[in-house]
Amino acid sequence: MEMINGKTRTCGLIGNPVEHTMSPAIHNTLAEKCGHNLVYVPFFVEERQVADAVKGAYALNILGLNVTVPYKSEVIKSLVEVDELAAKIGAVNTLVRTQGGYKGYNTDMSGLQRAMESEGIRIEGEEIILLGAGGASRAVAYLCASKKAKKVYMLNRTFDKAQKVAEEVNKAFGCEIIVPMLLSDYPKLPDGKFLTIQGTSVGLAPNDNEAVIEDTAFYQKVHTGFDLVYRPFTTRFMKLVKEAGGQAYNGLKMLLYQGVNAYELWNQVEISDKEADAVYAKLKEEMGL
Ligand code: ATR
Repeated sequence: MEMINGKTRTCGLIGNPVEHTMSPAIHNTLAEKCGHNLVYVPFFVEERQVADAVKGAYALNILGLNVTVPYKSEVIKSLVEVDELAAKIGAVNTLVRTQGGYKGYNTDMSGLQRAMESEGIRIEGEEIILLGAGGASRAVAYLCASKKAKKVYMLNRTFDKAQKVAEEVNKAFGCEIIVPMLLSDYPKLPDGKFLTIQGTSVGLAPNDNEAVIEDTAFYQKVHTGFDLVYRPFTTRFMKLVKEAGGQAYNGLKMLLYQGVNAYELWNQVEISDKEADAVYAKLKEEMGL
């Protein structure tokens, strides 16, 4: 970071809690690499103070904000505009300063897409298995539909939740892309090899030795496994994918690119994958790797 002076611009993160965030590492590293006079700081925001926080941030000339749990939906009513995909998902994680207020985006999803692209993984035309139907998996279902996946088998422990998400996404896109299934019905999946996105909270540290499906037969259906979890760095799901001969990735690049995409929106610059790699190294360092 340059010396903070009268021209320094501020960006930050609002959430509750915010202490464990790695976003400052992403944005302050990018500012340094780009030679921008910008600082990024965490802002702890109390429940019921989100609207005040956004209004205050605007009054303070804050350039941009990230929004994390639990405010990604609630913040929408404080915005002047919302990007189309973010509006469909009903969740935003990035606010960009515009005339009269902030515009909301969902760079969690554009970041996931970019992370997958950077690894050579396609969504368009693919048949995909999506594990989970919570907030994260629901957003992934929207991304897959918007990027024209051929089919998404959404498997969840609670079938009703998968069914509800499937109905909602299919309706939003006027298609029948999302097929809800009960998690334990995985033996009924069609033959073939699939890109499989792991969107449940199973396997998240400290429960490192858990995977949402243990059966090795299931992993024969996986050519590429993408776990949204990045703590631990190699999840049990990833190990099972690799043992069955597939390629496996964790969610750290998704975190990286949600930040990179937000930074690009705030500063109207393009960050190359090579520049992003330097930030990725910094994130691994933050994780003690
Ligand atoms: P997030 O916002 O991170 O997606 P969430 O909305 O609480 O978190 O969703 C958690 C997901 O993990 C859900 O799909 C949940 O399945 P249910 O809808 O049946 O609860 C899934 N999940 C959590 N613990 C699980 C477990 N032990 N076995 C299978 N699925 C589990």
